[in-house]
Amino acid sequence: PETHPDLDLRDHIRGIPDFPKPGILFYDISTLLRHGPAWRAAMERLASMIRPYKPDMLAGIESRGFLVAAPLALELGLGFVMLRKPRKLPGETIGLDYALEYGTDRIEMQADAVKPGQRVVLLDDLLATGGTMAAAIGLLRQAGAEVPAVAALIELTFLNGRDRLDLPCETLLRYD
Ligand code: PRP
Ligand code: MG
Repeated sequence: PETHPDLDLRDHIRGIPDFPKPGILFYDISTLLRHGPAWRAAMERLASMIRPYKPDMLAGIESRGFLVAAPLALELGLGFVMLRKPRKLPGETIGLDYALEYGTDRIEMQADAVKPGQRVVLLDDLLATGGTMAAAIGLLRQAGAEVPAVAALIELTFLNGRDRLDLPCETLLRYD
């Protein structure tokens, strides 16, 4: 049973205009993180959405994805893997380069982080264009993981990010 079933998470997300650039409305999770009951409700609801996929492990995307993956791993009694920005992880790593609007970026993980065939559900705070999530899925698959689903707190539906993904995508709050 949920601790705060009547709590509306939308009351705890602010839209900040013109950040980081003019014309962009930034959905800020800081206010959700600051509010204990709302943050707990968000994690409980996301945990319920993820449980049916029967993950063996979770993965989170640096930085804000870590904020979601770590408490969910605790809630579900699982471990979690860090997918990080380049050159942050020690030991043998594998990586994947992906295109941004201008230029490219790269995501890395430790080569031995998942066992072949392990079911890894991937978490981030927000799905926008889907570029980050698509790259992270590619990297986990390269590592031998089976990715039954991905999930995020927030989805910007007008950017159609989920169309770039070939698997189920669970999101708690959708903005259009
Ligand atoms: C933001 C957000 C997602 C990604 C979504 O991360 O946290 O990871 O962008 O965008 P996309 O769907 O268009 O790829 P950001 O790169 O701002 O870094 P942060 O998580 O370290 O704050
Ligand atoms: Mg991010």
